[in-house]
Amino acid sequence: MNLSRSLCRFVSITRKHLGRNLLLKGFPLSPAMAREGSTLQRDTGDEFLKEAFKIVMEEAVQNATDRNHKVCEWMEPEDLKRVLDLNLRSEGEPQDVLLGYCKDIIRLSVKTGHPRFFNQQFSGLDRHALTGRIISEALNTSQYTYEVAPVFVLMEDEVLRTMRSFVGWKAGDGIFCPGGSISNMCALNLARFQRFPQCKEKGLHALPRLVVFTSQESHYSIQKGAAFLGIGTDNVILVKTNDRGKMIPEDLDHKIQKVKSEGSVPFLVSTTCGTTVFGAFDPLEGIADVCERHSLWLHVDVSLIFNTSLLVIVYNMASALIKSVHVHYYIQISGYAIPVLLILLVFTKFVAPVFLDVFV
Ligand SMILES: Cc1ncc(COP(=O)(O)O)c(C=O)c1O
Repeated sequence: MNLSRSLCRFVSITRKHLGRNLLLKGFPLSPAMAREGSTLQRDTGDEFLKEAFKIVMEEAVQNATDRNHKVCEWMEPEDLKRVLDLNLRSEGEPQDVLLGYCKDIIRLSVKTGHPRFFNQQFSGLDRHALTGRIISEALNTSQYTYEVAPVFVLMEDEVLRTMRSFVGWKAGDGIFCPGGSISNMCALNLARFQRFPQCKEKGLHALPRLVVFTSQESHYSIQKGAAFLGIGTDNVILVKTNDRGKMIPEDLDHKIQKVKSEGSVPFLVSTTCGTTVFGAFDPLEGIADVCERHSLWLHVDVSLIFNTSLLVIVYNMASALIKSVHVHYYIQISGYAIPVLLILLVFTKFVAPVFLDVFV
């Protein structure tokens, strides 16, 4: 929020150079005018960028990872609003003021790469990963065609191939998702499509009441995904966990049988390896047996695991299960793969065609 507002300020100063009057009066800019505008501000813009990079390097990289500096200068929202001027304006501001904003934004933000930052999902600052992010931001491309992103398309292919090779999958596919919640929602969608392909054209009214199972300790994004996809949060059944936060397979089996006896259709069991609060691992093997008995899709949410070697352990467990079960039983894994909060969803070769059919 802070950043986007501050970026609005950067945009507003660019507007000034592009011909503020034209823009304020609502005249559209042609690409040629935009190019002309960016030439006009190139020298001062480059100078500004260099200064901003210096601040980032010093304050968001060096000081932010140094024990002698604070993790954050914490303030309650009302105090922060008083200290930081977040008002949106139609006028631009001088570069020294903007550089001051850059410093304030960094100073008042939480330094997730700090050695004393102990919240979830982050673990230090990886300078190489940061370099990659800076390059991709500067190039500002998209990933939709080879034509517009030749290097990144090949990179994506290679990362997915390597991730699949960890579990010995020779074929398959994958997708980078913007977070664990979207990964889980993709999982729900894939499982539903595999069971009821007509859903894509006919929509929900062609389907019976569908039911999802997940543990009491699973992430709330399963319910959120069920709401988004029209499955409904009442149709997400929470399975009991033991005192270590692990799903109890017997309770799962019991609940599946009950739902079936009511005429509803269970279609997915969403397990978690690394639950949000306890870090618990659901017992995949016992749960896989239940899924096999009822022909249910098994999803593993590995979002909390940001350590690649742990991810590989989960992949290996999953792949052992895949080899030992029936083809109609699917396993799918989502998880953070590398330290830049990238989420990967990988599929077996059985799932890949389903995935393509749903999304293409
Ligand atoms: C187990 C688990 N799954 C999913 C998520 C959702 O991830 P995101 O916040 O990236 O959407 C989290 C987040 O903490 C999580 O712990």
